Amino acid sequence: MTRISDRRTFAIISHPDAGKTTLTEKLLVAGGAIHLAGEVKARGANRRARSDWMKIEQQRGISVTSSVMTFEKDGITFNLLDTPGHEDFSEDTYRTLTAVDSAVMVIDAARGIEAQTRKLFEVCRLRSVPIITFVNKVDREGRAPFELLDEIADVLALDVAPMSWPVGMGGTFEGVYDIAHDRAARPEGPSREFHGKIEAAPALPEAARDEIELARAGYAAFDEGAYRHGDLTPVYFGSALKDFGVAELIDALAAYAPGPRSQPAEPAPVSPEGSEVTGFVFKVQANMDPQHRDRIAFMRLCSGTFRRGMKLTPTGHGKPIAVHSPILFFAQNRELADEAFPGDIIGIPNHGTLRVGDTLSEKAAVRFTGLPNFAPEILRRVVLKDPTKTKQLRKALDDMAEEGVTQVFYPEIGANWVIGVVGQLQLDVLLSRLEAEYKVAAGLEMAPFETARWVSADDPADLKAFADLNRAAMARDRDGNPVFMAKTAWEVGYVADRYPKVRFAATRER
Ligand code: G4P
Repeated sequence: MTRISDRRTFAIISHPDAGKTTLTEKLLVAGGAIHLAGEVKARGANRRARSDWMKIEQQRGISVTSSVMTFEKDGITFNLLDTPGHEDFSEDTYRTLTAVDSAVMVIDAARGIEAQTRKLFEVCRLRSVPIITFVNKVDREGRAPFELLDEIADVLALDVAPMSWPVGMGGTFEGVYDIAHDRAARPEGPSREFHGKIEAAPALPEAARDEIELARAGYAAFDEGAYRHGDLTPVYFGSALKDFGVAELIDALAAYAPGPRSQPAEPAPVSPEGSEVTGFVFKVQANMDPQHRDRIAFMRLCSGTFRRGMKLTPTGHGKPIAVHSPILFFAQNRELADEAFPGDIIGIPNHGTLRVGDTLSEKAAVRFTGLPNFAPEILRRVVLKDPTKTKQLRKALDDMAEEGVTQVFYPEIGANWVIGVVGQLQLDVLLSRLEAEYKVAAGLEMAPFETARWVSADDPADLKAFADLNRAAMARDRDGNPVFMAKTAWEVGYVADRYPKVRFAATRER
């Protein structure tokens, strides 16, 4: 095994409440990263309390920030990238999914596939990210395993390969049977948790035996090639809360999940075996540490061995940056990294030079592709309560656009800047951060626009002709790219028909 093939960089996708936090915590405990149950949440709560704007997060009970957790087990380094689960933050989540090599899909046994799971799954499919399924909460009354497996197969159009089977559920729960190894993990004590009791060739109730026989005959056998290709998902049943299935999940990630993959880039895809250090920024977060007003760019390393102090250059802009104090995220403790390998995530402190989508490399001769900016679905005008704060407002809006939290559009005509977000909640986050971090009191007004498209044309004259005739609807994004703001999505179609030489893009690849 090499330092490359022993990396597993993955995310957990799920609908809120399915048990992602609980499972994350158990994975970290199993990997020795933390020792106290409940610590992920406790640390989370602590961290949240430190920053004012994150109060929203507490009030709404959702996770706005995302983080990276690293743990090691049996010689494998696991990098777990946390994705915010709330639908309003889907853009952020999508970007995080560009930085993983595989995903674990957590499903609540009583609820099956839910809306958010499905959306996230589609993103994984788009990028051919292979998926291991964990059906959680089998210690409670849930739906029949067959029903759940059929639903996964039908809704997601995937082959399913059951790897384990719950022996009863809820009141009749007697553990989880490992199909390949003919053994069962058994509950113990009054809490009915798994404490390590494994029974070989266990005696099972007849009903369970029959089910397992039927399942063996009725579903696909696990096939690593089909899994890696995204055509099949192995399904593990378990209970994150009671520790069933957690060790099996880690073993499955170690055994089957792919290590770092080649990444799409120009002029050519980058192989993890390449010797030049390259990576891309998939997330930028401000004020992680209120003591320092810096920001952290989360970079996924794609090739080469990164060493502390190394100079990396952002492709297309900027001078080389000497990365003296990179951060490895180890169970949320900052640790200084001396070396990092493809698949690892490093945090690079900077003062706003690095942006989401940036490629960093030694020679600045490659550019990673495929990190999208999404067309905002909600546009609002920002109205300053104190007009002397224009400069601060501009800085704040630029900063947040850079982080990828919101998009900002500067109209060609008029002084009312427009911000665009993908979900309603981001508006609250924006106002709250303006006030807490930038001391700018502002309000939001309805804008006469509902959506925006990045416009381009092969012949600059065509674009200019279009822009001149639609001046009142034209704006520039933070990077100066021309944007057409439309009153309705219908208008976009209408205008696009009239200007066939102009391209209207709902996403902009950086
Ligand atoms: P999320 O991050 O996906 O949103 O879910 P989270 O882990 O916070 O779990 C949501 C609820 O489901 C929690 O209960 C949690 O204890 C429970 N849960 C998670 N895994 C299991 C499981 O395997 N079995 C059972 N029975 N419950 C599980 P809560 O009461 O909403 O929160 P809390 O007060 O326990 O923190």
